[in-house]
Amino acid sequence: MKVISFINEKGGTCKTTLAVNLGAYFALYKKKRVLLIDMDSQGHVGKSLGLDVRNAPITVFELLTDKHVSVAETLMSTRIENLDIIAANKRLAEFPQTVARRADNTRLLSKRLEELEADESEKYDYVFIDAPPSLGLITRNIIAASHSVVLPVALTYLSMDGCAEVVASINQVRADEGIENPGLGLVVPTLYRPTNLANAIIVKLNTYFPEQLSQIVVSYNVQIDEAQSFGQTVWEYAPSSRGAAMLEKLALELYRKVLARKAG
Ligand SMILES: Nc1ncnc2c1ncn2[C@@H]1O[C@H](COP(=O)(O)OP(=O)(O)O)[C@@H](O)[C@H]1O
Ligand SMILES: [Mg+2]
Repeated sequence: MKVISFINEKGGTCKTTLAVNLGAYFALYKKKRVLLIDMDSQGHVGKSLGLDVRNAPITVFELLTDKHVSVAETLMSTRIENLDIIAANKRLAEFPQTVARRADNTRLLSKRLEELEADESEKYDYVFIDAPPSLGLITRNIIAASHSVVLPVALTYLSMDGCAEVVASINQVRADEGIENPGLGLVVPTLYRPTNLANAIIVKLNTYFPEQLSQIVVSYNVQIDEAQSFGQTVWEYAPSSRGAAMLEKLALELYRKVLARKAG
């Protein structure tokens, strides 16, 4: 079971879009068993898949805060075979204060994933975690539970700032928890439009992340945006679009550089 998280403290960098569409890609086309975990109280993973999660009684919040809730109880299946989710909704916003006094409050997610991995009846190949736009306790839990981090960077003004913050957070959590993983697996430029500014940011990213920068740049693409607004993946909404072709190439690059590797 390989655990990959999509992290950037900024909103609107395509974390959710990539987690959902890439997760669905491996379930649909590579017959992998994929679990998407929503760790953002906005509940966009569920919404992106057309599921109403606002009133879901058992979500990731209960998974992390209530020891009487089993991992199996939190799993929701989707229209897509082999793709399950653990949903989030507004209640997740209460997570930091609910667990503030617990000494293990940065390892609650990793403990649950260890249980999941030990459970013979629920075998996932990949777990993709969608992070919130902040670097607080929720993101610390995500980092501590991940083998590798995907950092989507929107090619807009100030976008580089967020990258340094994510790298610093990864290093901090590794040091605090005394763990080897995660590594930064892939840096993905997103929402590309052919402007001088966007091209200059890609050049900078290449200097900072020569190993991790993805060859695939995710262009601004209307079908990808529309798919999410209809609660569908791009594979369902516009499978032969340019957006789908682009995300397929990115999925294959993620596979080569991160998922197929033995180490984190
Ligand atoms: N390649 C793309 N082209 C155009 N719009 C996109 C693309 N990818 C994502 N979007 C849209 O951008 C918005 C932000 O994406 P989202 O994945 O929700 O970001 P985040 O999870 O980082 O906040 C969404 O409305 C989404 O549909
Ligand atoms: Mg999101």
